[in-house]
Amino acid sequence: MIRTESSASSRLPNPSTLPLIQLPAWQALVDHHRSMSARHLRQFFADDPQRGERLQVEAAGLYLDFSKNRITDETLTLLVDLAEHCGLRERRDAMFRGDPINTTEKRAALHTALRAPADVNIVVEGVNVVPQVHAVLDRMADFAERIRSGEWRGHTGKPIRNVINIGIGGSELGPVMAYEALRHYSQAGLHLGFVSNIDPNDLVEATRGLEAAETLFIVCSKSFHTIDTLTNARAARAWSLAQLGDERAIASHFVAVSTNTEAVAAFGIDPAHMFALWDWVGGRYSMDSAIGLITMIAVGPEHFRAMLAGFRAMDEHFHSTPLARNMPVLMGLLAIWNNNFLGAETLAVLPYAHDLKRFPAYLQQLTMESNGKHVTATGQAVSASTSPIVWGEPGTNGQHSFFQLLHQGTRLVACDFIGFSRSQNPLADQHDLLMANLFAQSEALAFGKTAQALMTESVDEARVAQRVCKGNRPSNTLLAERLTPYALGALVALYEHSVFTQGVIWNIDSFDQWGVELGKVLAQRIVTELADTSDAPLTHDSSTNTLMRRYQGQRKE
Ligand code: F6P
Repeated sequence: MIRTESSASSRLPNPSTLPLIQLPAWQALVDHHRSMSARHLRQFFADDPQRGERLQVEAAGLYLDFSKNRITDETLTLLVDLAEHCGLRERRDAMFRGDPINTTEKRAALHTALRAPADVNIVVEGVNVVPQVHAVLDRMADFAERIRSGEWRGHTGKPIRNVINIGIGGSELGPVMAYEALRHYSQAGLHLGFVSNIDPNDLVEATRGLEAAETLFIVCSKSFHTIDTLTNARAARAWSLAQLGDERAIASHFVAVSTNTEAVAAFGIDPAHMFALWDWVGGRYSMDSAIGLITMIAVGPEHFRAMLAGFRAMDEHFHSTPLARNMPVLMGLLAIWNNNFLGAETLAVLPYAHDLKRFPAYLQQLTMESNGKHVTATGQAVSASTSPIVWGEPGTNGQHSFFQLLHQGTRLVACDFIGFSRSQNPLADQHDLLMANLFAQSEALAFGKTAQALMTESVDEARVAQRVCKGNRPSNTLLAERLTPYALGALVALYEHSVFTQGVIWNIDSFDQWGVELGKVLAQRIVTELADTSDAPLTHDSSTNTLMRRYQGQRKE
């Protein structure tokens, strides 16, 4: 059980003044890599017949097989040693305590408080935040039940049949991913939609054919400043009013999720219909806060709470398990190894569960917005590459698309396979076929096929080179019994803490996102200029000016 009471920021470790790559623990890994890099996964497995049984760890209902990574026991010892030198245990404890570890924004990063049991104390600026979290969860549950049961009526007295989430980034990717992942648990008869893109097509297509009298919009924005979301919310308001013809209708067809009560009220949503979150929840870490209201409406409060229990089980494992047997720590350290030592610049996330189809997109924000940083938390240039590029598609679709490159391309791609032992919808032997593909792909990537083996199969000699698969491609395999709400919570928390672990090694602030600001500011300026039809000279570079003029010209035609 996580017990955390103090918020003494003085307990944060002093980041080392040495650049990461000059730390003795890093140099030891460089030397180690040099001494073992010529060895093939085939050899690792041949030398140790129990490797696949040994190099695994279980937590919160998840089983991680990491034996198909290019590592030895010594690699693991050295990686854990690096984590100790980088202060991982202290930084982890500081996060759980609520210390302001998001230093550039002077905030705590307390997503773990969102799933803390009610009797725990987590104090931020003198206030125990856990009762607030539970109060919001209870309000969400009450509201979700009223929508699901039909008790909540729209302006004309009809029950709500359509719920549309308007939000972007962390205010969409988590909820849409969870909604898709838990479709099996969704209430039949409720239509759920997501509008994120400022492209008008998104809203228009999401509302096409719907009756406003039966439609509820959840305007989800932590800041309530995001132009994409506010623009779509205004358009949704106009769409509703065009059908309902009465301003008073807004009260029963719009609710908000935000930290910003004033902006919600200014938009015209009654703060009584607002669900709160807090500054100490990062957008990309917020799917288990009120941002997940639509998830709760879809699957019901009980399943939502089961998802929180899965998050919590992984939190407790992360918080209390020695680093060498700690699943998120191991995943994070293996990611460092694959990225910084083997040179794998990208990570392919390959869920063999179609309902996890949005999981790679969700992880893109979680990973790359967190760790795509070029300076350390104290502003020095990083000395090693930071976040890998995350991408992926569900298996088996990916197999018929980009797997060719994984097997025979010239780049090394690290892979995370994710699978489940039982299907939500058993259909003849289809689930076995699906999982056979997962096992086959990780085996093929690791072991490949040699020219010698091909020759024994009497393959035409002239075609042998094209058929050789070199193997030696690293992968993790995550296995759980079923894709339940609990398993989903555990899976998301696993990646959250793995991302955190990597950020600690690089000594970056994984909880800010200053890089997204520049484009936002420029877009504001450009949209004003696009609206100006005079011939006033444009003030950008010659490429941007020409593109803008061409756009203005074609727009008129
Ligand atoms: O632009 C990036 C970002 O700030 C994300 O970090 C965030 O999840 C998203 O925009 C949406 O922000 P908000 O919930 O405040 O609308």
